[in-house]
Amino acid sequence: MCRRVGSSEMAPLIVCKQVVKAYKVDDHELVALRGIDFEMEKGEMVSIIGPSGAGKSSLLNLLGGLDTPTAGQLTVDGQNLLNMKGRKLADYRLRQVGFVWQNVSRNLLPNRSALRNVTLPMMMAGVSPWARAKQARELLDAVGLSDKANQRPAALSGGQQQRVAIAVALANQPILLLADEPTGALDRQSAAQVVELLQTLRERYGLTILLVTHDLEVAAHADRVLTLRDGALGQDMSKRGDDGPRMDDAGSIKLPETVRSVLSDASHISVEIRPEGVLLRPENEADEVMTMGDTLMDAPPPPRRRFGWLRRKSAQKVQQ
Ligand SMILES: Nc1ncnc2c1ncn2[C@@H]1O[C@H](COP(=O)(O)OP(=O)(O)OP(=O)(O)O)[C@@H](O)[C@H]1O
Ligand SMILES: [Mg+2]
Repeated sequence: MCRRVGSSEMAPLIVCKQVVKAYKVDDHELVALRGIDFEMEKGEMVSIIGPSGAGKSSLLNLLGGLDTPTAGQLTVDGQNLLNMKGRKLADYRLRQVGFVWQNVSRNLLPNRSALRNVTLPMMMAGVSPWARAKQARELLDAVGLSDKANQRPAALSGGQQQRVAIAVALANQPILLLADEPTGALDRQSAAQVVELLQTLRERYGLTILLVTHDLEVAAHADRVLTLRDGALGQDMSKRGDDGPRMDDAGSIKLPETVRSVLSDASHISVEIRPEGVLLRPENEADEVMTMGDTLMDAPPPPRRRFGWLRRKSAQKVQQ
C-alpha cells in the first residue's frame, strides 16, 4: 500500500478555525461545538477525551465530511470541507478518510466475510477485482487476521471485528483515520491490542489518526491528548506545567479541570500504584461487571505514559 502525498507536505493536515456546529432541535438550536480551533500535523496521532455530549462525535463527523459546520473554517489536506459537495464530497469520504466506530455492527456488514468487507470500499472506488483482493489480503495480514479472511463478523471476537473494521477503514488508502471510541465495547486487553495496532499502522502507512475515547489508557498512546467539554477544546493534557496543584497536609489535591473532566462521569475512581506513578482511573458499574473475572495477572502491561500520572517523585506537582 503506498502513501498518498498531500497538497503540501509542510502544511498541517487538519486546520479547524472557529468551527461551530449547531443542530436544529424542534424550534431551537443546540450548539454542539462552540468555535473549535485545532490543527493536526500529517502523521500525528491525537486523542480527544471528554464526557458524553461534549461534541466529540460531532467534530469527527465534520472532519469525515458526514456533516457540515454551521460556521468557521475546516480544511483537510488543503481541501475546504465547507465548499465540498456532491461527487467531490462522496469521493472525499470514500478515498481520503477512513472511519472506525464504537459500534462494531456499524463497521461491518454481517453477511460478508472479513475479506469481502475489506474489498467493498475498493469495489465502490472502482478498483479491479485482482487488485482489491490483493490489497484486502495485505490489510488483513497487517491487522493480524489473515487466517480469518473467510469468516463472517459473527464468527469473530469483538476485538477481531474491530481489527477487520480498521482494515476496512484503510481499504482505499486514506490519509486520515477517524476512530470514534473504537475500543469502547472491548475489554481492556483487546482495547490495548487495537490501539497498539493503530500505532503500528500509523507508522507503516504514514497515517494521521484522530481517536475519540473515554479510556485514559487508550488516549495515552497518542502524541497529544485534548479534552472536549461543552463544545470547547481544552488544553493539551500531554503538555507539562510548572505550577501544577499541590497536595495539602490532609492528602487532598485539587485536580486541574482537564483531569476532572475525564473523571466526572465515573461512579467512582480507582487508584492504582504502578511503577510509573499513581493512576487514577474512572470506573462505572458496567465496567465492573465486565471485568470482575479479570485478575491483576491478566492485565496488560501499562502503555507508554504521556499524561495522567501523578508522578511519585514530584507528587506535589501534578504535571498536565
Ligand atoms: N443529529 C443531531 N441532532 C441534534 N442534536 C445532536 C445531533 N447529534 C448530536 N447532537 C447533540 O449534540 C451534542 C454533542 O453530541 P455528540 O454526539 O457530538 O457528543 P459526544 O461527545 O460524541 O458524546 P458521547 O460520548 O455520548 O458519544 C449533544 O448534546 C447531542 O445531543
Ligand atoms: Mg460520540
